[in-house]
Amino acid sequence: MATRKTNEENRVPLYDVEFPPTEPALVTSETPLSSLNLNWAERDLPERMRTKHVHRLHPYLGKYIPQIVEVFLRKYFTPGQTILDPFAGSGTSLVQANELGINSVGYDISAFNVLLCRAKTAEYDFDHLKREIEDILKRVERDTSTSWTDLPLFAGLAVSDSIEMDDEYLHTWFAPRALNELMTYRRWIDQGEYQYADLLKVILSRSARSARLTTHFDLDFPKKPQTTPYWCYKHSRTCAPTTEALKFLQRYSADTLKRVKEFAALRTTARVDVFNVDSRIGGDIPVDGVITSPPYVGLIDYHEQHNYAYRLLGMIDQRSLEIGAAAEGSSKRAQKQYQNDIAAVFKRALEIMPIGGRMIVIAGDRSNLYEGIAKMIDVEVEDVLTRHVNRRTGRRSGEFYESVFIWRKRHGGSASVENSGSDHHSHPNGTGDE
Ligand SMILES: C[S@@+](CC[C@H](N)C(=O)[O-])C[C@H]1O[C@@H](n2cnc3c(N)ncnc32)[C@H](O)[C@@H]1O
Repeated sequence: MATRKTNEENRVPLYDVEFPPTEPALVTSETPLSSLNLNWAERDLPERMRTKHVHRLHPYLGKYIPQIVEVFLRKYFTPGQTILDPFAGSGTSLVQANELGINSVGYDISAFNVLLCRAKTAEYDFDHLKREIEDILKRVERDTSTSWTDLPLFAGLAVSDSIEMDDEYLHTWFAPRALNELMTYRRWIDQGEYQYADLLKVILSRSARSARLTTHFDLDFPKKPQTTPYWCYKHSRTCAPTTEALKFLQRYSADTLKRVKEFAALRTTARVDVFNVDSRIGGDIPVDGVITSPPYVGLIDYHEQHNYAYRLLGMIDQRSLEIGAAAEGSSKRAQKQYQNDIAAVFKRALEIMPIGGRMIVIAGDRSNLYEGIAKMIDVEVEDVLTRHVNRRTGRRSGEFYESVFIWRKRHGGSASVENSGSDHHSHPNGTGDE
């Protein structure tokens, strides 16, 4: 399939294989692991395919690509079975499982991520949804069409009396007009008795992300509000921070409707259950297996990246319960704690899985922590595959690899936990996320 490679792909030997990258839709339970080529070059798997339908309903840093999930769901699971993702994140596993008629259970400690998973996987009556989306926009346009043009472009950051919420973060990160528009939308979600309030909250959050006082090139983790024009590295010109939110609410309303419709054409009646719990202690629904990408050690702060959503939507922030929290760093002590925490989650999962059930874990394992985790939970290591992660989101340096650990729940007994499967794939030495 691939003909031309990017500069980065030219540097990575994994792209120099003879056989083409795997076509996920063609994978079956009979496909040998040794025949998989998970190194899709940019041309094989362009961004629009990696972010198809609801996968781009809202930005989320640290997701895996739907195609890798599809490969392993097709290989190890059948329609009607149930998979668990104890680190559901933005819901990639749940969406892909549903597409294949596989039931799914998801847990995540982040309330916003759970909201996003539910909004992505819900079933919608489109006429009704369209009416609700248009109705709330009309109300916001009507209620905010006052004299904002009279305000100087970056007039102080005090907001109008009509905004009840007294949150310093919101006042700091949004221009007055933008905050008024967002808060008006938020108030109508509360008062409008909308059936699809979760999806409206996702539209609100996505708009808020774009409407923050940030530079265009630092939307993931901006350090301080940008209140004056600046030189923009992304656009190679002088840009100014936005002062309004309505245009984003309008744009993302249309995009959301389109994406949800695209997924509806593929959606099955398979169940999706998502819970806002700490996977170390919560959740006991029986499942047939696991597919997941756990958090990394000290790398991504999953609450912080959606801080604006927590503030605007008044959701409970449980960042202190994040495993491998960025704030804890990646010291030896943090790594040991991480192994214990991940092992605790997987031990619980093994208890609710049948013997022989698969656990597919996709992780960047630069520090080689997963061999130890496999031993701690006493699973049979069937295989470990390595793939390169194209630099697709954010600006990073160096190469990124992720490993696919294929583990199996033992048939009881106390056999050695050393690798019982093939070892023809090199061990990972990197980390990555999409
Ligand atoms: C790498 S992300 C998963 C991304 C997901 N595969 C996707 O494609 O969107 C890891 C997730 O683990 C969640 N997490 C961290 N600690 C947790 C805990 N103690 N219990 C449940 N979820 C947790 C984070 O909130 C984050 O969403």
